[in-house]
Amino acid sequence: MSVPLSSSKQSTVFLLRLCLLKPQTSAIPYYPLHRHLSTEPNPPPQDEESLINEAVQLFQVLEDGNSSSTQLHQLLFSSSSPSSPGIFRQITRRLASSSQALEFFDYIRSNSPSRELTSLSFTFQAIFELASREPDPQNKLLELYRTSKERNIPLTVNGATLLVRCLGRAERVDEALAVVDELDPSLKNTHFYNVVVALLFRSGRIVKALNMLDEMLQPGADCPPNDITGDVVFAALSRREWCGRSISDKEIVGLVSKLLQQGVFPDTFKLTQLITKLCRKKMIGLAWDVLHDVMKAGGTLEAASCNALLTGLGRDGDFERMNTLMTEMKEMDIQPNVVTFGILINHMCKSRRVDEALEVFEKMKGVSGLSVEPDVITYNTLIDGLCKVGRQEEGLTLMDQMRSENKCMPNTVTYNCLIDGFCKAGEIERAQELFDQMNKERVFPNVITLNTLVDGMCRHGRITSAVQFFDEMRSKGLKGNAVTFTTLIKAFCNVNNIDKAMELFSQMSKDGCSPDAIVYYTLISGLSQAGRMDDASSVVSMLKEAGFCLDIVCYNVLIGGFCRKNKLDKAYEMLKEMEQAGVKSDSVTYNTLISYLSKTGNFATAHRVMRMMIKDGLVPTVVTYGALIHAYCLNGKIEEAMKIFRDMSSSSKVPPNNVIYNILIDSLCKKNEVELALSLMEEMKAKGVSPNVTTYNAMLKGLRENNLLEKAFDLMDRMVEQACNPDYITMEVLTEWLPAVGETGKLKNFVQGYEVSVSTA
Ligand SMILES: *[C@@H]1O[C@H](CO)[C@@H](O)[C@H](O)[C@H]1NC(C)=O
Ligand SMILES: *[C@@H]1O[C@H](CO)[C@@H](O)[C@H](O)[C@H]1NC(C)=O
Repeated sequence: MSVPLSSSKQSTVFLLRLCLLKPQTSAIPYYPLHRHLSTEPNPPPQDEESLINEAVQLFQVLEDGNSSSTQLHQLLFSSSSPSSPGIFRQITRRLASSSQALEFFDYIRSNSPSRELTSLSFTFQAIFELASREPDPQNKLLELYRTSKERNIPLTVNGATLLVRCLGRAERVDEALAVVDELDPSLKNTHFYNVVVALLFRSGRIVKALNMLDEMLQPGADCPPNDITGDVVFAALSRREWCGRSISDKEIVGLVSKLLQQGVFPDTFKLTQLITKLCRKKMIGLAWDVLHDVMKAGGTLEAASCNALLTGLGRDGDFERMNTLMTEMKEMDIQPNVVTFGILINHMCKSRRVDEALEVFEKMKGVSGLSVEPDVITYNTLIDGLCKVGRQEEGLTLMDQMRSENKCMPNTVTYNCLIDGFCKAGEIERAQELFDQMNKERVFPNVITLNTLVDGMCRHGRITSAVQFFDEMRSKGLKGNAVTFTTLIKAFCNVNNIDKAMELFSQMSKDGCSPDAIVYYTLISGLSQAGRMDDASSVVSMLKEAGFCLDIVCYNVLIGGFCRKNKLDKAYEMLKEMEQAGVKSDSVTYNTLISYLSKTGNFATAHRVMRMMIKDGLVPTVVTYGALIHAYCLNGKIEEAMKIFRDMSSSSKVPPNNVIYNILIDSLCKKNEVELALSLMEEMKAKGVSPNVTTYNAMLKGLRENNLLEKAFDLMDRMVEQACNPDYITMEVLTEWLPAVGETGKLKNFVQGYEVSVSTA
């Protein structure tokens, strides 16, 4: 026969209890368990202890049916036996199982009918405790709960708490809440409220949770909040995602300030978590209020919570409040740490206020007695900031400083920032020198280093060097990635070296680098632009085989390419495919089609497409109108062109640009409609659209045909005024015309006007 709780088990419990009652230095919140255990009674005195043990043994033997119950009856119910009120509960606790405990309970009830209800309630609670540690606790507890109701034994608050918590854990929230409703309200205590509120928050029943909290937060409430209430609330507010309805700004501030009024403060961890969450949800004003409420209520603040808010403010670009907070930290003696300085420096560098960042950096070095040493991350942030605003020379100086002053060695990131800076400035040699230095210092380049240099070289027209460098790195074991290949492929496409681009593309797979969608897009765009539509189509098939989809930009490039090759059927095929793939045409798609259709004289269709465009909710742009106007002009249909032009300014709100004016003026002059062309020149002036030399040349040619000298002089004056330089066409027109009509002087003045304006400029 086994004794339910052996002495060795007891000592384990004792040790556990000791561990849980450690002093408050532990970072793990231990309150809940501590509280839970502290509600347990003190261990019973010695004579009671032996009575309990004896009773447990007797009851178990009685169960076996071998002994008469008289011994037990005498022990428990004779007038001489000690009758501590909790004695039955103690015995129940030590029985082997909840079912045995229930039998014991019935034994007591039938042998001592006079037992008061409270004592029975407490005994029943002990059965709950046993059941909660057995397998399938939820169903067992629910069964016991039903039994207790059948026998008219009211639940104790701890029993109810146990039940609610257990059901809540199993996500049987409705059953748990039914228990809450049935519990005698006068029994409820703060601990019970805490458990229920936590459950309500967790299951997204926000309104109920807030109502319950409201009850607790009333002045003079029976169950005022305690630290655990605070933990529950702050944890709920800072949960990453709220399930159920969201908690409004007002409710958050209201809750926090009411808790603070009752002396319930969040610990640093919870507060930091809440502030971080609010900042992430772009509720920065609210985060600010919460932190300041805690500050005003006299709670302890640490740098971590302030850092969270500083990060949020930085991301929001609210430099003023960052400053205010820094000042407040100083006033309140909250020591900034290396993270605080890092946030400030990072924020300032990102918003290109490098000088202010350098100031903070100097301050940081000046803070004595703090373990605030600038580290390699701080230096890298600053060097990157300097390089991004074109101050790479200062960045270089800072790298030397970091070595000498702080014994802080530059790493790959440091070098990458500097190399990028020099590449952007077009100083490719300096960038390469840095790369060599890097190797000497045994700082290993990574793929970003490689990509930065390859990109820099390509941007500055050194594609051959870029490929050489790339090959060299490859032979040394530093392989490129999709970005490297994209950069090179794009560069070769740009200089129309499609074969080399294709070669790189096939090399990519050989190198074991699988192409991403962007590589495909780059190649398709390059091929389409070069008019190699068959190749483009085969790359499209490869892209699809690789499991990627075309995007709208790619479709547009392809449609444009097919149009230029006069393959309208192919272009329509693409359109149909787009529709099937659920990619919506944009104004570029429509403009491409309208431009092609009108250029080929297919005006009726072009107009139909334009109507479709409008039906699709898109607004024709200046490009749409320009395409039509240009095509009408090319087809000699000036009246149609002018009609579109008038429509454009009246019905739509698209102001014509100088491309459109130039086309019209040129065409009008060629058609000898000089007066109309001149009126367009006036209109341009009125609308503030600047003519350029192309406009003037077209106009001057038209005037010459009609020998309108005075108008030509006006225009020549305007050109000088506008500092619009004549080109060889202007000079050709004027030197053929003016001397022939005896106006050599005017021509001389015109040319001199430029000499003057050049010398004064
Ligand atoms: C009663 O106890 C004896 C030993 O003391 C044991 O052999 C017997 O099986 C028990 N009887 C019952 C009914 O359990
Ligand atoms: C003048 O403007 C038109 C339209 O913007 C443009 O096509 C043309 O190249 C410009 N001419 C010169 C010389 O810049």
